[in-house]
Amino acid sequence: MSILVTGGAGFIGSHTVVELQNAGYEAVVLDNLSNSSKKSLERVETITGKVITFYENDINDRAALQKIFKTEKITACIHFAGLKAVGESVNKPWEYYQNNIAGTLVLVDEMRKNGIKNLIFSSSATVYGDPAFIPITESCPKGICTNPYGWTKSMLEQILTDIQTADPEWNIILLRYFNPIGAHKSGTIGEDPNGLPNNLMPFITQVAVGKLPELGIFGNDYDTPDGTGVRDYIHVVDLADGHVKALKKIDEKCGLEIYNLGTGTGYSVLDIISNFEKVTGIKIPYTIKPRRSGDIASCYANADKAKTELGWKAKYGISEMCADAWNWQSKNPEGYQ
Ligand code: NAD
Ligand code: UD1
Repeated sequence: MSILVTGGAGFIGSHTVVELQNAGYEAVVLDNLSNSSKKSLERVETITGKVITFYENDINDRAALQKIFKTEKITACIHFAGLKAVGESVNKPWEYYQNNIAGTLVLVDEMRKNGIKNLIFSSSATVYGDPAFIPITESCPKGICTNPYGWTKSMLEQILTDIQTADPEWNIILLRYFNPIGAHKSGTIGEDPNGLPNNLMPFITQVAVGKLPELGIFGNDYDTPDGTGVRDYIHVVDLADGHVKALKKIDEKCGLEIYNLGTGTGYSVLDIISNFEKVTGIKIPYTIKPRRSGDIASCYANADKAKTELGWKAKYGISEMCADAWNWQSKNPEGYQ
């Protein structure tokens, strides 16, 4: 059984390809390498000892999709491909809507024309906006997104839901990721952001490796135990495993389903720093900066639905997340370059 993994060369995609191959699936990766390197796939092949079929193409490229669907025996698609930099999306909304929304419409159109109606979509906890309640269950109402990136996820969830309602042959799972961090145990694949990292953990690891002088903490006056933002960090290998479990659910002809993928535990920025320092023995200097626009105080999941219906539960704790993120960064100070 071959699974088409769009965006499979990226951070979450590459880890998911490892878990797919380990579970016995054939992985066919489509990626335009706009935010990744082919090296990640070579390293995945070294980890698993299995070959990846790779197409360096864009999801907007109908001819490429037609070729893949004619050549490969694809039964389902895990759709990671998309632009994801929140700040950039504010300055380039057209590019984000074009790439993420128009690209997904092309992909889904070519899938249905080829009779492949099984899809797992990378969504995000960002669709909850400032959540109506925490821990967040899937029935928490969607909220107001603060940036075009977030809207692409929210709108695509609606589009895919409408497509499945109109044609119940579709099986579509929307996975709402919380904050993926960490890396594969081997330290050979990991997160490799372009330029200055937007997200907390890659910023910390780049301070630890000496590429950046200090961390700025965006606000310490939130209504949280220590005043800094609280998030649900999840090990990327656990997240990857969630996709394998979701594929099994698709096999049961599930229709449309939504699952939160998080651990259910919230950690503050100061908690993350202290855990990282404890695990690595490296001090992370920081200063308190103003709040970042669009940030919320607390966001963590109730992941019971994934546990009950997918048999999935996060296995790794915060120490492993910190240790594995550092293992990757220290072995690859320049990422894949
Ligand atoms: P990533 O940038 O590492 O991976 C995305 C991959 O998609 C990259 O390899 C990129 O080259 C590729 N890509 C982008 N546009 C493409 C296109 N038009 N055609 C073909 N390939 C294209 O990001 P990631 O962190 O691995 O995220 C994967 C998915 O999960 C994204 O959709 C992202 O929005 C979503 N997500 C990520 C997070 C997170 O914190 N990393 C959280 C929630 C949701
Ligand atoms: C951000 C995005 C969200 C996206 C997610 C994963 C925003 C507003 N939200 O979420 O849409 O789905 O990343 O890609 O950008 N922090 C610092 N200093 C830093 C970086 C972060 O103090 O240099 C703090 C933040 O204020 C927050 C926490 O660390 O409290 C986590 O931040 P981050 O890793 O960027 O994730 P989110 O804000 O949850």
